[in-house]
Amino acid sequence: MDNQANMEPAAGSAAVNAASDAIELLKSDHRSVEKLFDAFDKAGVDDLDARGTLAQRACEELTVHAIIEEEILYPAAHKALEKTNELDVDEAYVEHYLVKTLIEKFDSLKPGDQGFDATFSVMSELVRHHVEEEESELFPELRKSGVDLAALGQQIATRKAELMKKLEAAGSKLVGDRSLSFGRVA
Ligand SMILES: [Fe+2]
Ligand SMILES: [Fe+2]
Repeated sequence: MDNQANMEPAAGSAAVNAASDAIELLKSDHRSVEKLFDAFDKAGVDDLDARGTLAQRACEELTVHAIIEEEILYPAAHKALEKTNELDVDEAYVEHYLVKTLIEKFDSLKPGDQGFDATFSVMSELVRHHVEEEESELFPELRKSGVDLAALGQQIATRKAELMKKLEAAGSKLVGDRSLSFGRVA
């Protein structure tokens, strides 16, 4: 039997989330993507449909998550931690860069291709490490700094809803369309 009943609702949770502070919102994104990683690990090696769908969904969620952190949380963290733990914010940007580079590989890699599973595995390890660092270092430092996490949470919830709408409208093409996502410097 599967665990579909335990999946978090894809929609309708925005109102609940809007009441959370920035850190709670981002942590709930982390749990959601970890569930996708676990499901990918449990999917049969030959279940290419499941692997493809889970990888795509994970890349989408990570893309949206990275955008809101880079647009809203990290700049606030940079400012708040300027004199103390700035290095943790800089490291977070570098880790995002690496994750994004691996996500881009899925523009051309298809389930069953040589390298698909390996790329997903390395990407998920990197994300798990990054999440662990955010939750054990960056987030507690930010909470201690006294920054207004409720206000940041509102901004994050609003931006996330906007990006999710865009993602749905694009029919899951957001990840492949860099113009909508990372705002890369050419
Ligand atoms: Fe991050
Ligand atoms: Fe994060």
